[in-house]
Formats: sequence, structure tokens, C-alpha cells
Amino acid sequence: MDDAESVGVEPIISKGLIGIHKVITRGFSVSNDNIQIFIQHDPSDAETFGGFLDYLQSLTTLVHAHHSTEDEVVFPIFKRELMVAPYDLLKKGHVKMEGLLDQINPIIRNPDLHNEDTASMLKLQDLVQSLSDLWAPHIEIEECRFSQNTIAEYLNTEEQRKLSLKIGEQMQKNSDPVYMIIPFIYYNLSGRARDLMAPFLPPNTNFLLNSWKDHWMPMKPFFLD
Ligand SMILES: [Fe+2]
Ligand SMILES: [Fe+2]
Repeated sequence: MDDAESVGVEPIISKGLIGIHKVITRGFSVSNDNIQIFIQHDPSDAETFGGFLDYLQSLTTLVHAHHSTEDEVVFPIFKRELMVAPYDLLKKGHVKMEGLLDQINPIIRNPDLHNEDTASMLKLQDLVQSLSDLWAPHIEIEECRFSQNTIAEYLNTEEQRKLSLKIGEQMQKNSDPVYMIIPFIYYNLSGRARDLMAPFLPPNTNFLLNSWKDHWMPMKPFFLD
């Protein structure tokens, strides 16, 4: 039994927080590994490289959506409830990471980028590595401060449900295009971690294999089954 379940509060907020952190953490790991491979394998086939750029773009979109959700929706409510955390430090972390996203996005959105463009690829490698270096200690603070037990002390089940709806709205607003971001979340998780994120994903996953498939399929080599 989870800690928060033991005090009778469904731990929906911490599940979502940890789930998205897991997706993004895997996203950084896959990105770092593959940038290295693409730099070394010269030239790579255009289709696989294109799928990788889609993967990176979905990752940067999700990181931004997550930061914006924390800054604009989650942290103001946690602060209002007097939940203790180093909010200024977390906010500064978001600003630093957003600065790196602002440098990564023009590189990966450049339609002429190819893995043989060594200067751009090395720059990309450096930026993604710097971003993941900031990410790891940042989420450690969040997961420690906003544990299931702590959130349950401040927000009851109904309050958590209301907050999770607001989180969903804010995430959706920033998850464009949704036919890339939802598959990105789904396929960067597996097993129990994917099950835990189910309340935050559309209830029916047929879309993954139907109308959206052509869009996200190029990212498949970088996804879990
Ligand atoms: Fe954060
Ligand atoms: Fe976070």
C-alpha cells in the first residue's frame, strides 16, 4: 500500500508528477545516447534521424509544458497551502532550463540539420547534456518535498482531483501537437509506471494505433514497447 493510500487520500498529484519526471528522465537518457550514436555513424539514414528530431522536439515541448504547469498551476496552490519547499530555487532551475531549451529548439527545428553537421550536433550534445545535468537534482528536490504523504497532509482527495484537472488543462494547452506528445508520454513508460499515468492520458488508447499513428511512428525506434 502506498503511503498516501494508508491515510485515505488518493495520491493522484504525486503519481502524475513522478510519472512525467520518469518520461522526461528517460527522454534525456535516450537523447544523450543517440546524439552520440548519430555523431559517430556518418551518415545516418534520413528517416531515422528525422524520427530522432521529432523525439527531441516532443521532449523539449514536454519539458516546457511541465515547467509551465508547475510554475502557473501547481506551485501557487502548494504555496497557498503553506507547503514548505525552496520555491525560488525551483523557479530559478526552470528559468535556467528554459534558457537551454531556447538554444536547443532552433537547432532541432532547422530543416537542414543533418548528423554530418558536426558543429551543430556537438552543440546539441552539449546543450542536452547540460539540461539533463540540471534536471536530475531539480526533480530530486521536487520528489522529496512533494511526496505522496506531504501532499496528502495539505490536500484532500477532492482538492487533489480538482488540481489534477487544472494540471491536465495546462498540460494540454502546452502539448502541441497532442498527437506527438501523448504517444511520447505513453511510450517512454512501461509496466506499472505506464499504468500509474493512465488517469492523465486519454481513457481509450485506440488513437495510438489509428489516426495518430502516421505522425508518431517515426519516433518508434526510440520508444519502449
Ligand atoms: Fe520543476
Ligand atoms: Fe517537476
